[in-house]
Amino acid sequence: MNNFDFYSPTEFVFGKGTESRTAELVKKYHGTKVLIVYGGGSVVRSGLLDKIKKELDEAGIPHVELGGVQPNPTDPKVYEGIELGRREQIDFLLPVGGGSVIDTAKAIAMGIPYEGDFWDFYINKAVPQKAVPLGVVLTIPAAGSEGSGNTVITKLDGLKKLSVRTHGLLRPTFAVMNPELTYTLPAWQTACGVTDMMAHIMERYFTNTEDQEVPDRMCEGTLKAIITEALRVMKEPTNYGARANLMWAGTIAHNGTCGVGAVEDWASHFMEHEVSAIYNVTHGAGLAVIFPAWLTYMASHHVGKVAQYANRVWDVPESDDKKAMALEGVARLKAFFHAIGIPVTFKELGIEHPDIDLLVKKLHENKGQYVGCYVPLDAQATREIYELAN
Ligand code: NZQ
Ligand code: ZN
Repeated sequence: MNNFDFYSPTEFVFGKGTESRTAELVKKYHGTKVLIVYGGGSVVRSGLLDKIKKELDEAGIPHVELGGVQPNPTDPKVYEGIELGRREQIDFLLPVGGGSVIDTAKAIAMGIPYEGDFWDFYINKAVPQKAVPLGVVLTIPAAGSEGSGNTVITKLDGLKKLSVRTHGLLRPTFAVMNPELTYTLPAWQTACGVTDMMAHIMERYFTNTEDQEVPDRMCEGTLKAIITEALRVMKEPTNYGARANLMWAGTIAHNGTCGVGAVEDWASHFMEHEVSAIYNVTHGAGLAVIFPAWLTYMASHHVGKVAQYANRVWDVPESDDKKAMALEGVARLKAFFHAIGIPVTFKELGIEHPDIDLLVKKLHENKGQYVGCYVPLDAQATREIYELAN
């Protein structure tokens, strides 16, 4: 286990009815004028937005709003939010929704106090020093942005989907998490959230760092719980216990606890970001196509931890043939994805002829000659993985 510095300052307010504490939390974290950010309308239809606005009104906290954030959020909405936030002199951001909404709010939060173009942070031209504080009301367990210091935005010009990773600056001050708010999620979004949170754990689990017994067991245990709860929730979408466990799993999958002390991988995420940037597929579905292909490649190139994963997460019996163990683990992962209605190949995802040349080109343009750490992948290796996903 390497030295680490784990900082997770977010106050998680979890459980039934917790959205009624939003205004109280905004006050606690010194918000006096709020910009509410939301997506394409689910929070309007569910009545959540009205509820929160009413609460803010009753608490005497003025607010303005920015709706219409789309999944795989893009830069124009961020510019709109920065302008609105400056004009209205807001001092607190309140995203109500999922990763796309939260990530847009985080970009606005960095952009408001910055004199240059907010995109500078995504292309490593500048490092954010200041951000308007934000609090979150989460409506979908998936991206883990409610507990992470990261944001991912797509620049329409050139379709570049890039992230900013901060240590503490962009971590929300609070995250309101009521599992009941997720009952309205379509099965597809629930399942894509499941694949995303599993991927967040696996990106951390596949490491060459040794003596990771505690993080390893946390990863394996959480993955096993997600598998059980996901199968339960697909059958019973309003099962509170299953929804609650998935919601918390989505947070711990990505707030850093599962990866402490390890050199993390992230190749599958970077490879997926190219897929969702070009084809605008749901991030979790893209991951369900890429991750099994990545694992299949690793079964031949660095089998160690993949065999351990197969045994401990998928109950594949120990054997001397580690590659066979690993491949059986991949087969069980794919069967699970199918069981929750998720595609595992480009074709199943509706991409008949993926432009692999373009995917590889953009990936290495954006991420450099090598991606990932478990096995650093050059362009030939990433091409092979994209082809395995076909
Ligand atoms: O837009 P609305 O109408 O609200 O509908 C959303 C959207 O269509 C819907 N939804 C959300 N909550 C709902 C609901 N529908 C009914 N009932 C509810 N309670 O779900 C759809 C997907 O929402 P989105 O916010 O896009 O989902 P998710 O949380 O999966 O976020 C995905 C984005 O996060 C990025 C992804 O790349 C993608 O752009 N990621 C962000 C990360 C981070 N900041 O740390 C890490 C991740 O690896 C990921 O890359
Ligand atoms: Zn993800």
